[in-house]
Amino acid sequence: MIELPPNSEIFYTEDGSPTLSLKKADGYVEKMHHSGGALSESLYIYRSALSETLSRGWSTRILSLGLGLAYNEIISVSELRKKDIADFRIYSFESVPELRDGFKAWVGGASGGKLAFVFDQVLKQVAAVQNVPSALLRTWLKEALADHALELRGSFPEESDGIEGVTLCYYDAFSKKMSPELWSEDMLKGTLDRLLARNCILTTYAATGALNRSLKHLGFSLLVKTGFAGKRESTMAIRE
Ligand SMILES: C[S@@+](CC[C@H](N)C(=O)[O-])C[C@H]1O[C@@H](n2cnc3c(N)ncnc32)[C@H](O)[C@@H]1O
Repeated sequence: MIELPPNSEIFYTEDGSPTLSLKKADGYVEKMHHSGGALSESLYIYRSALSETLSRGWSTRILSLGLGLAYNEIISVSELRKKDIADFRIYSFESVPELRDGFKAWVGGASGGKLAFVFDQVLKQVAAVQNVPSALLRTWLKEALADHALELRGSFPEESDGIEGVTLCYYDAFSKKMSPELWSEDMLKGTLDRLLARNCILTTYAATGALNRSLKHLGFSLLVKTGFAGKRESTMAIRE
């Protein structure tokens, strides 16, 4: 049985796709996605950046923070394998062990439990928009985990040893309120500098002053991108 992490709850967003909320020790609760659509938001913010990276012919070395319900991982593997790209790496960070272990077990074929049910739904919904049979997409995920093209890691940035040359960064952390340490200018500048390739795209649903300053300091150009579902801004930054 693959069960939800403690202090988490499933919600359905406006496009019918599931999201999960997590509660911090101090009682603050945050959902992983915009209420307007977890899947739609993932396509708008993250799949579009993958398309930008592929259109430039760069190698595909993706850093994904964090795994959550694995929309970005499932979308990316689907997009890459559909294009017959076998040489890719996705380093996926997730600090909640139940999500990491649950995803691994589910990809391996385990079933039963609320988290497995949610992963099944995410898979089916991504498969439908990507026009891929869901059984094939699951096989692609299994192969990616088996040959380490998709690598699951723990907390960011602590568990980022050995990673360099990242050409695409999905910075899908919880907000500053939930995870202040992931949005500080010092952390962003130091950590990203070490991990990112010269040619690189970073994308996130968020738009903060510290992130903008860090990316400019690292030589990125910021593209003006409207946020998802009525949000004023999101961030897509390119260094090439
Ligand atoms: C906004 S959600 C990500 C949603 C996910 N991309 C998806 O497609 O479902 C943020 C995730 O980051 C995880 N997280 C929080 N702090 C982290 C850290 N320091 N390192 C790795 N993961 C972290 C949370 O547990 C949560 O699953």
